[in-house]
Amino acid sequence: MTTPRLTLAHLPTPIDAADHALEVAGVGGRLAALYVKRDDMTGGVEAGNKVRKLEYLAADALERKATALITCGGIQSNHARATAAVAARLGLRAVLLLRTTEPELRLDAVPLTGNLFLDRLLGAEVRLITVAQYRERNALMRDVATELAQKGERPYIIPEGGSNGLGALGYVEAMREVRAQLDASQSGGPRSFDVVIHACGSGGTAAGVALGAARYGVAGAVVAMAVCDDRRTFEDVVARIVVEARAIDPELTSLADLTIDDRAKGPMYGVASEEQKELIVRVARKTGLVFDPVYTGKAFAGLITRAKEGALDGKRVLFIHRIWCCIELANSRLITTWSITWCDSTTCSPFWATLSPRM
Ligand SMILES: Cc1ncc(COP(=O)(O)O)c(C=O)c1O
Repeated sequence: MTTPRLTLAHLPTPIDAADHALEVAGVGGRLAALYVKRDDMTGGVEAGNKVRKLEYLAADALERKATALITCGGIQSNHARATAAVAARLGLRAVLLLRTTEPELRLDAVPLTGNLFLDRLLGAEVRLITVAQYRERNALMRDVATELAQKGERPYIIPEGGSNGLGALGYVEAMREVRAQLDASQSGGPRSFDVVIHACGSGGTAAGVALGAARYGVAGAVVAMAVCDDRRTFEDVVARIVVEARAIDPELTSLADLTIDDRAKGPMYGVASEEQKELIVRVARKTGLVFDPVYTGKAFAGLITRAKEGALDGKRVLFIHRIWCCIELANSRLITTWSITWCDSTTCSPFWATLSPRM
């Protein structure tokens, strides 16, 4: 049985050689090769990793004749923004429960930037919730579903990050796509990669990549870089999602060797360490690859740590890049105040000194 899937993303996304990023980070020559899967290019406003999951989740919603999508996330959630875009495209209503630390749960009290701006522009209904309420997000989404049903809507709940067994199939499919690219002799193929590395925020990508990498012979190992919770938490979450995915597709019998590495999660969700911010700026200026401080920048910093430790010596590595520039704008203040000023003035010379104009 094939699982229903919509065509929403622009696929296949390219895979770029990126050894130069290793040199910038001081680990040139240690890996056999670094390639970057450009899932930041999966689309326009819906781009990033979430649209791959939404191809399955929205298909299911339409099969069930849903008229409204309900989901949740942080105030700058990429997943919520992608859901708002997909809902608008499919003519569905979107209700987003977004977590904020602002003392007042008033939309006009929250800066209308980045993803939140797009959520509103796309016509999604945004309901702000507190950090404490967010812990009860599944119950709250069920309450919203009941409320909408009473008004004659047919609501469909998408969990945080689109991370359930069905959403994870988006990254199983992404691994099939990578296999086809290797078979077409792209990225040094048909030889497979040794390891796939990516950011992990709600576990669905990790489950899908580990299942898909094994199924399609893309890599024997997967490293998921946790950006918020710890290793134990994600091991449980991913295990649950793997079980759910297998219930949908029983042919997903094998799983790549999956490591959750939580050493790059930085001070807290959404906040990168000074070293991570400096790495983001350095890589951007020297390679044109713009990583964000919430997900991909932390994951890349984790990759560099592993490279420095020798864990990636001689390996062919695929790094999944999954952000769209929108969040860079939303988070620009997280990077600029410290890193760019610092990098312009001190250690990041001498090669940066030759670059102009300055930001
Ligand atoms: C750009 C980006 N990378 C990685 C992730 C994490 O993926 P997952 O939630 O499937 O663990 C997210 C989640 O929002 C994301 O937006």
